[in-house]
Amino acid sequence: MARIEMFTGKGGVGKTTMSVATALQHAKTGKTLLISTDPSGSLSEIFSQRLDQQVISVAHNLEAVELTRALVLDLWREKFAEEIYTVLSSFLPVGRDIISYIEGAPGIEEEFMLDYLLTKFESGLYQTIVWDTAPTVTTLNLLFIQQLFYSHLTQAQKVYMKVKGVFNKVDPLALINKWRALTARIIELLQTETSAWVVANPERLPVEQALAIADSLTEFGIRVDGFILNKLLPFAVCRNHPFWLEKFQAQQKWRGKMLEAAAPRPVKEVPEMLGEMQVEGFLGKISDLLLG
Ligand SMILES: Nc1ncnc2c1ncn2[C@@H]1O[C@H](COP(=O)(O)OP(=O)(O)OP(=O)(O)O)[C@@H](O)[C@H]1O
Ligand SMILES: [Mg+2]
Repeated sequence: MARIEMFTGKGGVGKTTMSVATALQHAKTGKTLLISTDPSGSLSEIFSQRLDQQVISVAHNLEAVELTRALVLDLWREKFAEEIYTVLSSFLPVGRDIISYIEGAPGIEEEFMLDYLLTKFESGLYQTIVWDTAPTVTTLNLLFIQQLFYSHLTQAQKVYMKVKGVFNKVDPLALINKWRALTARIIELLQTETSAWVVANPERLPVEQALAIADSLTEFGIRVDGFILNKLLPFAVCRNHPFWLEKFQAQQKWRGKMLEAAAPRPVKEVPEMLGEMQVEGFLGKISDLLLG
């Protein structure tokens, strides 16, 4: 069964770069899915293909998809809308526009992104799923909303028990229980099949955020594999220029703090690279650095 490897961290630190580099490496040994839940993801640009409509093969053994809001809602409608409408319209005088009202509810989009991940995991098609996430806060919301959903559904179950007589043809409890089971499976997927790499740059804010997100993930029950410190300036190019030397020293200070706070968890170091963020560009080099 597939393992899910997620990349998280502050905005712009290199999550997508590390996800693509890792996916390329995994694709050498087995079928791999690269999936982005960042609403402003850039996988389509990197692979020069539209990946926001469906899963597409982008290289040997490698498929990719960007879960945009539009795609997620389309899939949601296909899978759940009819069911919800049937239940609600059995006891409320509502039209089909109730479906778009519910779509706007907080948490639906997040819920469906994770349902999608679960479906791909359970398809058995992939050896590894690499998950490129949105910046920190959005991703943490995604996770904690699961627990909220679960407790809301538990409450809902109690409420519906009391008004059971109102429903004649449909059984809302069956729907609630199905959703509760689904949420429980998603939480289990995150806690037992998923592990995270937290990406940072050697500066104060990304380092502090990386350590905080690692704590939150641990609290949620997601295993943290370690940290990736990205865009380290090489000493050789900084040594002869006061501006770059100072920059180098500042980076080393935050590198030291990161190494100390991360221990015993590993920290992989990736230098600032020349060239383009392309498979033929530095992505291949980073891929070798991370896992080669
Ligand atoms: N080691 C590196 N050397 C040089 N440039 C890099 C390196 N890592 C990433 N970059 C560049 O930094 C920019 C940000 O990287 P990337 O898009 O991977 O970050 P991100 O964390 O996914 O950002 P976002 O939060 O916007 O999704 C990109 O232009 C990328 O090409
Ligand atoms: Mg990104």
